[in-house]
Amino acid sequence: MLNLTGKKALVTGIANNRSIAWGIAQQLHQAGASLGITYLPDDKGRFEKKVRELVEPLQPSIFLPCNVQDDEQIDAAFEAIASQWDKLDILIHCLAFANKEDLSGEFSATTRQGFNTALEVSSYSLNRLAAAAKPLMKEGGSIVTLSYLGGVKVIPNYNVMGIAKAALEMSVRYLAAELGPQNIRVNAISAGPIRTLASSAVGGILDMIHHVEQVAPLRRTVTQLEVGNTAAFLCSDLASGITGQVLYVDAGYEIMGM
Ligand SMILES: NC(=O)c1ccc[n+]([C@@H]2O[C@H](COP(=O)([O-])OP(=O)(O)OC[C@H]3O[C@@H](n4cnc5c(N)ncnc54)[C@H](O)[C@@H]3O)[C@@H](O)[C@H]2O)c1
Repeated sequence: MLNLTGKKALVTGIANNRSIAWGIAQQLHQAGASLGITYLPDDKGRFEKKVRELVEPLQPSIFLPCNVQDDEQIDAAFEAIASQWDKLDILIHCLAFANKEDLSGEFSATTRQGFNTALEVSSYSLNRLAAAAKPLMKEGGSIVTLSYLGGVKVIPNYNVMGIAKAALEMSVRYLAAELGPQNIRVNAISAGPIRTLASSAVGGILDMIHHVEQVAPLRRTVTQLEVGNTAAFLCSDLASGITGQVLYVDAGYEIMGM
């Protein structure tokens, strides 16, 4: 029943084979979607090479650089998508960034620059990419972003990223309300802690994972592919009545009080 054949899906945020976006891309591909991939370019082209090799088996028809802090790159990426695809059905927003020094210690020490960078990359970018995707989602669509419990409850060291996730989750609701009349659904997946490049910058991430393994109802944390399965569901017609929601894929950790 979960069939994405004929759907065109843009996936952002693959850095390596541990990325949650990689888990999502694999499951969208398996469900039959055609993929477009964007990556964060760097001066020496190392990210491009690594991501290109990784995604090759999924045969993406679009492969583009897109630094969400650069409006020209965003516009160029969506112009290229519009010229190659007749429509866009799915947008996966799976990226975040905060300075490492802002992901440990005292939250009150966050600098203005660190605060703005975290919110710009991790939260505003959803709004910016949704605006760019909107005219291409002619037959409706599904936008999925990635959040974390630290946007709702205080998690040690998550600090400014918690503020960014709170803004992200509220952006999901405002975007869902705005885009619903065009049958564009907007949802977030709040994933349990997973070892990735981004999460390794958060102080004490391994302790967080061990804590979840002891306390979560399923006595474990989740995998990138489990998050990918939920993303595929949210992008499918099976989820046609779901928008503006934050869905927890966290082995049940969120329900626990102690
Ligand atoms: N790993 C976890 O425990 C966890 C839990 C819940 C939510 N998340 C969220 O999942 C998402 C993906 O993170 P991940 O854990 O897979 O780590 P990751 O490091 O694999 O992915 C983060 C991605 O963000 C991209 N990125 C950073 N700055 C960018 C910019 N300016 N422009 C474009 N791309 C940029 C990186 O290139 C990378 O691909 C993030 O939103 C993260 O907050 C992660």
